[in-house]
Amino acid sequence: MMHALTLIQFAVAVVALFGISSAAPIASPFRHASKAAALKAAKRDDSGKLVVAHVLVGNTYPYAEADWASDIQLAYDNGIDGFALNVGSDSWQPDRIADAYQAASDLGLDFKLFMSFDMSVLPCSEASDAATLTNYITTYAAHPNQLLVNGQVFASTFSGSDCTFGQSSAQQGWSSQFLSQLTGQNAVHFVPAFFSDTSSYSQFDGVMDGTFNWNGGWPVSLTTQSAQSAIQGLTSDLSSATFASQIESALNSTIGAFSTDQTYISALNSVSGSNKTYMAAVSPWFFTHYPQSSFDKNWLYLMDYQGYNSRWETLISNRDSVDIVEIVTWNDYGESSYIGPVEGAQPAGTTWATGFDHTGWLAMTKYYATAFKTGAYPAVTQDQLFMWARPHPKDAQASNDATGPPTSYQLVEDSLWAVAFTTQPATVSITTASGTTQTTNVPAGVTRLSMPLAAGSGMSATMTRNGATVLSVDPGTDAYTFNANPQTYNFNAFVAYATANSTSN
Ligand SMILES: *[C@@H]1O[C@H](CO)[C@@H](O)[C@H](O)[C@H]1NC(C)=O
Ligand SMILES: *[C@@H]1O[C@H](CO)[C@@H](O)[C@H](O)[C@H]1NC(C)=O
Ligand SMILES: *[C@@H]1O[C@H](CO)[C@@H](O)[C@H](O)[C@H]1NC(C)=O
Repeated sequence: MMHALTLIQFAVAVVALFGISSAAPIASPFRHASKAAALKAAKRDDSGKLVVAHVLVGNTYPYAEADWASDIQLAYDNGIDGFALNVGSDSWQPDRIADAYQAASDLGLDFKLFMSFDMSVLPCSEASDAATLTNYITTYAAHPNQLLVNGQVFASTFSGSDCTFGQSSAQQGWSSQFLSQLTGQNAVHFVPAFFSDTSSYSQFDGVMDGTFNWNGGWPVSLTTQSAQSAIQGLTSDLSSATFASQIESALNSTIGAFSTDQTYISALNSVSGSNKTYMAAVSPWFFTHYPQSSFDKNWLYLMDYQGYNSRWETLISNRDSVDIVEIVTWNDYGESSYIGPVEGAQPAGTTWATGFDHTGWLAMTKYYATAFKTGAYPAVTQDQLFMWARPHPKDAQASNDATGPPTSYQLVEDSLWAVAFTTQPATVSITTASGTTQTTNVPAGVTRLSMPLAAGSGMSATMTRNGATVLSVDPGTDAYTFNANPQTYNFNAFVAYATANSTSN
């Protein structure tokens, strides 16, 4: 997610690039909900468990309705129930939102959409600023694809704990200028991602119907310094390319943890009201690398050790405490957290996402989303192998990058991470350099594998069973090479995967 300045700068860059005018576009109205659609919406007042994905509308400038349709279909096919539409202040964004809702209804899928107001860019100091928000709610409240929870229009935010809308406090602002303005079918079930101290949630009494723990998907408080003090006394240190298993265990225990979720859930319990919603985050990765002269963001969160899988497992074990899982993100290329295809637009200066497909993570999502929603892990019905890695050694010196390596880069290992999904026992061989292959007999189910990367080489793998090749993965060294001499720092992951042609192997 961008900070205020950064999105505005991006908007300016887009305007400069495409020469679009900044006149406010008129959102095209959605087709009027038919009676059947209204019934469907009522039936879809889904207060059960859901999995949604966070979509930065700000990265969809070139989208037409067909692009929304293909994203929605792809998300739906992979077990995702809806999109959180993160909306900023660009004048063209209402048109993209209109297209998203239109595409969802044209597809006729039970796919939900809701507004996630980006309060790091939307103005919120004047009473009149609330109109942008209330307009979005009233425009889509009756839309058949609008997410309703407890019969109310579900809405979220990114930040906003300081928004006063011209009132004496944020509580007064949200309450009187936003929530109280929306009644009847427009009434909102409000589940913001406020970044205020959870110990002061009582100040939002009457505002929060729930809370979204945006940062919960990553070990955000793990720093190189905190890791160094945690591993004091262990025999090796973080300067190695790969770590001793004790260090791995110490770092790995922070990934996917439920501790901040517990803090948020207790804080939510201190807010009055019933039917409160706890929305948890899951994310596969995080790396951002903008120089001081642009967005001034250059750090990573440790997500080694198959962190996406770990976080899902944690949320599934704690599903009794979680109502909605929001995947962070569908398309935030700037922070390398996307699981959707690399498409649309990227903020100016984003050099690390193009060519770095993440849809392998999308392809493993349905398994976990199903387990979260039903309470039981589904059987693996297709043999699949996923593998991913960063494109250069952690200690490489980029030859043309004044920004320097990202904060916390010492925490990562120069390892290839893989996950096998197998219908029956199989033999999996993963290869970095030629002649450097690790072969493992894996049981049916989900198995994690890893091995050190080799500079100058790529990644490949095969799965065999009863002497026959079930699948192979080989993106080729043009697509992926672990390069000892990069020009720029890139701690994003390249994800490759393959699915067996048939399940009868
Ligand atoms: C809580 O949700 C149930 C079912 O969705 C609904 O019937 C009830 O009115 C809700 N209660 C409140 C206080 O909103
Ligand atoms: C990391 O933790 C997960 C459980 O969250 C476990 O399945 C995995 O084996 C661990 N990996 C390492 C390298 O310790
Ligand atoms: C899967 O099918 C494709 C296309 O028919 C074929 O090229 C490939 O060799 C098959 N892979 C295996 C492992 O059978």
